[in-house]
Amino acid sequence: MAHEDLYVTVKQLMQEGKGILAADESIGTVGKRLDTVNLPNEPENRQDFREILFTAPGIEEFLSGVIMYDSSIRNTTDDGIPFPDVLAARGIIPGIKVDKGTRPLEGFSGEVVTQGLDDLADRLKEYYALGARFTKWRAVITIAEDIPTDACIEMNAVMLARYAQIAQGAHLVPIVEPEVIFAGDHTIQRAEEVSMRTLQILFATLRQYKVDLKGLILKTSMVLAGDQYKEQSTPEQVADATLRAFHLSIPHDIGGVVFLSGGQTAKRATENLNAIAQKGEQPWPISSSFSRALEEPVLTAWQGKEENIELAQKALLFRTRMNSFAQKGVYDKTKDVK
Ligand code: G3H
Repeated sequence: MAHEDLYVTVKQLMQEGKGILAADESIGTVGKRLDTVNLPNEPENRQDFREILFTAPGIEEFLSGVIMYDSSIRNTTDDGIPFPDVLAARGIIPGIKVDKGTRPLEGFSGEVVTQGLDDLADRLKEYYALGARFTKWRAVITIAEDIPTDACIEMNAVMLARYAQIAQGAHLVPIVEPEVIFAGDHTIQRAEEVSMRTLQILFATLRQYKVDLKGLILKTSMVLAGDQYKEQSTPEQVADATLRAFHLSIPHDIGGVVFLSGGQTAKRATENLNAIAQKGEQPWPISSSFSRALEEPVLTAWQGKEENIELAQKALLFRTRMNSFAQKGVYDKTKDVK
């Protein structure tokens, strides 16, 4: 089935020079972010933080979409304007994370599977009515001595495929996100091997379940050595390993590819995105969909203080501009913050 409306949304999301802000932390996870600047995890602080992000002047030049969480897509600004309306009015497409987090995969130590399929079709109808036009589902693939197993990758791929079918049936673009976790002491070679296997199994499964690849976006990790490995990968190494894995696993007809930041510093994520873009044109449009790498500088500037809001919003605009340069391969790190 052709999904013309989905193709239009994909094209808008993947516009050159623009990225997608992932502001879709669950209530627990956003609490961890607020805690980094000693703010309690209270509804008012969560609402203030999202309002700072979504109303930051100028971001529409560099952001094509924002992914929200169930509570924030229902939330409003202090003036009572629903968050999805605030974004849509500025030409930023509202999106929504629709999975319900991970649970242990019984019998497979250290591995997890993402849940949330049961009532998904009903929830999507409501999200569409609230203004969402795209969705995200995150699967977690962890690297350690004997993992990931194919069983874990396959189980998550089936969940991702079923989610993508349901989303497309509800006229919402699916972003399928199999996140290969950065934490660990693995080498970049091991990360490349795992990323490639994960993506190969994922795309074979998506095809098997007849998901319309043109109406879908892949959100994935950059390929790099684990954060505990003795030698951290250079941007050049990251670009080469990432594109090698992509070329051996991602079909050319998907709508686009966006990167998560995965715990890299804001500047490192930008530098790596730039190195990838500098490798020249690829079969797919490539951009970013960072959460921590966009939000951390905002939180640091804000500190929960009214008088810092302007500074915090400027920090978001600055970071999105740096990522816009990087998406085009023209980022100059000497013009970035120290
Ligand atoms: O699911 C993860 C987020 O969408 C991306 O977050 O950029 O902090 O890895 P991150």
